[in-house]
Amino acid sequence: MTIYLNGQYMPIEEAKISVLDRGFIFGDGVYEVIPVYSRKAFRLAEHLRRLQHSMDGIKLANPHSDSEWAGIINELIACNAGEDQYLYLHITRGAAKRDHAFPNPPVPPTVFMMSNPLPTPPAELLHSGIACITAPDNRWLRCDIKAIALLPNVLLRQMAVDAGCAETILIRDNDFMTEGAASNIFAVKGGKLLAPPKDNLMLPGITYDVVLELAAANGIPYEVRKIAVAELFAADELLLTSSTKEVLAITQLDGKPVGTGQPGAMFSRLHALYQDFKRDVMRAA
Ligand code: PDD
Repeated sequence: MTIYLNGQYMPIEEAKISVLDRGFIFGDGVYEVIPVYSRKAFRLAEHLRRLQHSMDGIKLANPHSDSEWAGIINELIACNAGEDQYLYLHITRGAAKRDHAFPNPPVPPTVFMMSNPLPTPPAELLHSGIACITAPDNRWLRCDIKAIALLPNVLLRQMAVDAGCAETILIRDNDFMTEGAASNIFAVKGGKLLAPPKDNLMLPGITYDVVLELAAANGIPYEVRKIAVAELFAADELLLTSSTKEVLAITQLDGKPVGTGQPGAMFSRLHALYQDFKRDVMRAA
């Protein structure tokens, strides 16, 4: 596997960073995950806009223009095998003597990028849906920043794994649902798709946007608003989205069936629309 580190392309085994890197010491950095279909980075402009938002959120200067990022990304895609890949892009505040405050003067950021084969959800998950648990959302108040400091998300996701489930759905203030530990969550009630608002309490997912655009373009009624805990448990269907999971049906929540306990009509519709979109738009030259 060829990776990119600070201006150079190299085998992953040769990549080295300082133990004083602020990403390693403080988790002081941001990242992006960009799916690549037919060797084209999907919604690159949107991913770079979200990256800029994350960098602004941690007051880190962007070392590259969008066209420089596009150049690096396209080179890395070309260096790696596979028509469909997923890119992991990671920027930290660089290596400096350990002090919580920013290095002054600033030091060069560390820029790391790698590519892996893009997984697609296995057929049995599409057929049966996934089981999830709920847990209090104990993260900070800037979940709109795609920060590399993911310890809360790591612990929350592990709770699901320990319970034999696929994802943990997060409940803020014992009141409303925000998102999954590494995904966005939608509810369905009475034929309407409900989406939580893109505020500071959730990551603005690129797949979330695609799903709402597909709903709008295909006459599927939807509403963007807070989803109360009671609505989560009374939903006819629950859906999970992310770049690597696409659209999945959640058929069990905290050990109880969601709706009929089978993937529902909204899932089937949106999943089919997403697959068409992938074929006709994402892969289009
Ligand atoms: N995670 N919310 C959180 C907390 C996430 O970590 C992710 C994605 C999403 C969905 O965003 P998108 O549709 O842009 O993938 C929502 C990625 C896949 C990860 O950390 O690996």
